[in-house]
Amino acid sequence: MRPLIAGNWKMHGLAKSLAEIEKLASTLAATPAECDVLICPPASLLTRAAEAAGEHILIGGQDCHTEDGGPFTGDISAEMLKDAGASHVIVGHSERRQAHGETDAIVAAKAKAGWRGGLGVIICVGETEAERDAGKALDVVAGQIAGSVPQGALAALTAIAYEPVWAIGTGKTPTLEEIEAMHGHIRARLEAHMDSEGADMRILYGGSVKPGNAAEILKIAEVGGALVGGASLKATDFHSIIAAVTGKS
Ligand code: PGA
Repeated sequence: MRPLIAGNWKMHGLAKSLAEIEKLASTLAATPAECDVLICPPASLLTRAAEAAGEHILIGGQDCHTEDGGPFTGDISAEMLKDAGASHVIVGHSERRQAHGETDAIVAAKAKAGWRGGLGVIICVGETEAERDAGKALDVVAGQIAGSVPQGALAALTAIAYEPVWAIGTGKTPTLEEIEAMHGHIRARLEAHMDSEGADMRILYGGSVKPGNAAEILKIAEVGGALVGGASLKATDFHSIIAAVTGKS
């Protein structure tokens, strides 16, 4: 499947940041990417980001509620994201799992909510440093896949993002061999969990992806793209990562 390079702006971005989307949109209009390109800005910018994105950039939300509406102050539903111009939503990011107590069951419910709202869903998994040091990374991620990826997930509407918690925003990454081993493991778990859809689902790597390491990470066979935090905020950095995708479509 065509790779996906997704940018997660987290709680960064004011109106002036839309200029970065406009800049990337005009770069991609001149030289189309060999991958799908997604930017997930804060909810406050969604509508304007979707307008600025043009036809070469998809826009997504960073989280959604499980319900389509109701008395949930401060939350946003998948239907609202779609209505604001989003085509995708990230669910189960480790910052949501850790700071908002989201369990695998909640993440699975949010993934279903995303599909219900007509969105493609990126489901995040990944071990902590203590879990890796204890030799439990593969088991932890297998448990997250089993608990957070609902049965019936369709490859066209679902991507898995493997993001080791200790690599997010730290400048540290696993070795290429560790990424390869984990992505192979995730592929095997997805196939065991849901057969052919699991065989086709994109598995993104996330955690300190930068222009300098994107090419070597994206070359790994089971890496179907990247989820990029800090390096997605500037159009030039993000475009370098997008341009590092070659020969994978
Ligand atoms: P980072 O964040 O690229 O800044 O490490 C990745 C993420 O949290 O999705």
